[in-house]
Amino acid sequence: MPVLHNISELIPCSTGLPRGETGRILDAALAWQSDRIAWLGPASELPSDFANEDVVDAGGCIVVPGLVDAHTHLCFGGWRADEFEMRCRGVHYLDIARAGGGIMRTVEQTRALDEDALFEQARSRLAYLTTLGVTTVECKSGYGLTLHDELKILRVYARLKALGAARIVSTFLGAHVVPREFRDRREDYVDLVCLEMLPAVASEELASYCDVFVEEGAFTEDEARRILGTAASLGLGSKLHVDQLSDVGGAALAAELNAVSADHLEYTGRDGIAKMVEAGVVPVTLPVASLYLRQPPLDARQWIDAGAEVCVATDFNPGTAPTGHLPLAMTLACTMNRMTPDEALLGATRVAAQAIGLEEEAGSLEVGRRADFVLVDTPSVNHWLYNFEPNRATATFIGGARVHAR
Ligand code: NIG
Ligand code: FE
Repeated sequence: MPVLHNISELIPCSTGLPRGETGRILDAALAWQSDRIAWLGPASELPSDFANEDVVDAGGCIVVPGLVDAHTHLCFGGWRADEFEMRCRGVHYLDIARAGGGIMRTVEQTRALDEDALFEQARSRLAYLTTLGVTTVECKSGYGLTLHDELKILRVYARLKALGAARIVSTFLGAHVVPREFRDRREDYVDLVCLEMLPAVASEELASYCDVFVEEGAFTEDEARRILGTAASLGLGSKLHVDQLSDVGGAALAAELNAVSADHLEYTGRDGIAKMVEAGVVPVTLPVASLYLRQPPLDARQWIDAGAEVCVATDFNPGTAPTGHLPLAMTLACTMNRMTPDEALLGATRVAAQAIGLEEEAGSLEVGRRADFVLVDTPSVNHWLYNFEPNRATATFIGGARVHAR
């Protein structure tokens, strides 16, 4: 049984701790047996029966739970750096979309690739994420928008899951935008989503959640009600992209539909906040997207003061958040969303696991849980997120197996 010694701080982020607390243990040790945590605590209290086990030296690093990215669009068929340049010059994201760029452009590029090509790209992106300490990733479809292409993307995720390189939770986002070919008959597209795509996704068990982008230029509240209602009847949980570019009343909708999370929320007002907190919907901030679109960032203090815990995720996609760097998102959650470093860490571990329904399995270090953890070369969580460096993760373990070492 391996025992990790020489941990300057172990930060378990355990469930059951009071809101906002991480349960930090100084001079700690961590033992695991096959894929499960067997013991953790102050090194001075390590039981004597662990004394002769394989010693792994943490080198004085801090140890945190494997990071959980609760919102990505990992599978996409190409980048949009030219649109980035246009946006730098001041052209608006929605104007680029109206002129044929944006999400629909990625849809065309994704349709053009077969499953194997998309799988290779997504696998290499995922491998990079694990080097940053990410061990669980929520992955959305939404760049296919035909039955064939949505299933193709979800099968890529199923293959990544089978590979075991990280834990994958799949979300069907067939309601990302109305594809061009349905522009003048959007009800037919909603029918396609509800009557063909969702039943196929559910019968092949290709997704745990269904997500809808509610926004001008995407879907209406009523369309979201119908799509998520159909999804629920097929056993899929609900997620929402809402209030990103304007207050569309998305937070209240998420509360009404009992969504597991609502994401973006840059424009959500006090009333929406109160409704989501009351309903227990996890708010997800995506500060990389706010930064790249120069949106006013979500004010996490308002949410926390109202009783919420805020999840931090990347929104990794080729348009609004072209990086899957979760530690960067955590630093931005501090500087832009006014979260403390501990809150940002919780937001990318325990709270993130809750945002994807994995709170029993991922996002915290507890005896009996899976041994997903990261060694971070920094004196403290505060220092890690304050003195940003491209990568301080020196080792990543998934189910007790080292998947990255530096
Ligand atoms: O989460 N909001 C909608 N969808 C993505 C953007 C996708 C794109 O621009 O390709 C998002 O920000
Ligand atoms: Fe997104």
